[in-house]
Amino acid sequence: MKVTIIGTGYVGLVSGAVFANWGHTVICLDIEKKKVENIKKGIMPIYEEGLEDLVDKVQNKDKRFEVTADYKKAVEHGEVIFICVGTPGNQAGAADLGYVDQAAQSIGKNMPENTYKVVVTKSTVPVGTHNRVFENVKKGAGSKKIDFDVASCPEFLREGTSIYDANNSDRTVIGSNSEKALDILSGVYETLTSPIVRTDIASAELIKYAANAFLATKISFINEMSQICERTGADVVNVATGMGLDKRIGPKFLNAGIGYGGSCFPKDVKALISFSKKAGYDFKILEAVHEVNEDAKNRVVKKIEDMLGSLKDKRIAILGLAFKPDTDDMRDAPAIHVISKLLKEGASVIAFDPQSAENAKRVLPEATIYAKNIFSAVKNADIVVVLTEWREFSQVSLAKIKELVSQPNIVDMRNVFNPAEAKKLGFNYIGVGRR
Ligand code: UGA
Repeated sequence: MKVTIIGTGYVGLVSGAVFANWGHTVICLDIEKKKVENIKKGIMPIYEEGLEDLVDKVQNKDKRFEVTADYKKAVEHGEVIFICVGTPGNQAGAADLGYVDQAAQSIGKNMPENTYKVVVTKSTVPVGTHNRVFENVKKGAGSKKIDFDVASCPEFLREGTSIYDANNSDRTVIGSNSEKALDILSGVYETLTSPIVRTDIASAELIKYAANAFLATKISFINEMSQICERTGADVVNVATGMGLDKRIGPKFLNAGIGYGGSCFPKDVKALISFSKKAGYDFKILEAVHEVNEDAKNRVVKKIEDMLGSLKDKRIAILGLAFKPDTDDMRDAPAIHVISKLLKEGASVIAFDPQSAENAKRVLPEATIYAKNIFSAVKNADIVVVLTEWREFSQVSLAKIKELVSQPNIVDMRNVFNPAEAKKLGFNYIGVGRR
């Protein structure tokens, strides 16, 4: 099939490359010419495992993938056109649909007469946005006679594992009020063997928020549970294991830690609260989920103070900056909040992250010092604080760290170390919800 993708962010670029790998002929459009030129040369705008190789394969060997800044070419190409642009949260927490509006208008403007197209929103958008997309496509077309339907096909991939996720999705959700559009759209996914949920368009839009909000709720729930564990002597890792083996609950998204970050959960939880309010309903559970998440971030500094007392002139080694491992993404990373507070209290911060240092430099306070590896970060540190659970942290030799630090203190906000081992080596150790 001929497929067009508008936007080459995580969702757009990964989906485009994966669709091309499935055998579709794909054109990806981005309005940033520099980005387009870079992707053509094989320089990816993001770090994502396997993406560079996949783009190289579909672009240069299979020749089924092209990236362009030419809207006319892109829109004329696709029988199905996916809108994959950003929907950042605005000041009030609502999703900002400016990029979606622009994309829909440009699609309308460049849509040829007398050819039917399906315009699909993959970006996470509040329920009802399909009406807005429909109107904006028509607005862009002006007096031209165009033939199209709108559909929704929310994306469920995770950063860091997005190519795997796209090929191994639990389900694909497609929503439209046109059966013809649904038939065509399901053709894009015929390679997959997992279920396709065919539904009305409003439900498709809401499923995405419902899924993200539910996962965020699991995280805030286990973070609250970790508080009870710390007060009663229970171990939250054991509690999560015991709960998670119940098939109705499941083991995933039960890791207590520093709270959820990234470009999705914080924004989507706030957006669902916001549009529920607009719809006349206070989503009470989600208000609490958000509040608990903010508390989890604040708790880090408190734990560090419990060990060190005043933070003035203390040397703090931070291991991990990205909002989660296997990504260089710093959007809404809890590390931003934590490091800003530590510097404000007069501490000096030496940070190491295997991938995100470049992105971190743009969002962290200037005073942050960047180390080249774990060992140079922890050298002479008064405390070692783990903020992201990169695999190399859990595999590092704690004995070697002990030799390098100035004081043997660890605050492990991702429970990557074995508390018994750390204590045996003489560390003062605080994890999350465990001793
Ligand atoms: C999330 C969803 O998992 C995807 O299904 C969805 O497509 C995506 O949002 C999106 O809306 O685009 P992502 O933000 O990439 O994906 O990352 P996750 O792996 O879900 O992690 C989100 C945050 O929750 C991270 O900060 C992570 O550290 C935190 N988390 C996750 C926990 O604190 N505990 C857990 O047990 C799991």
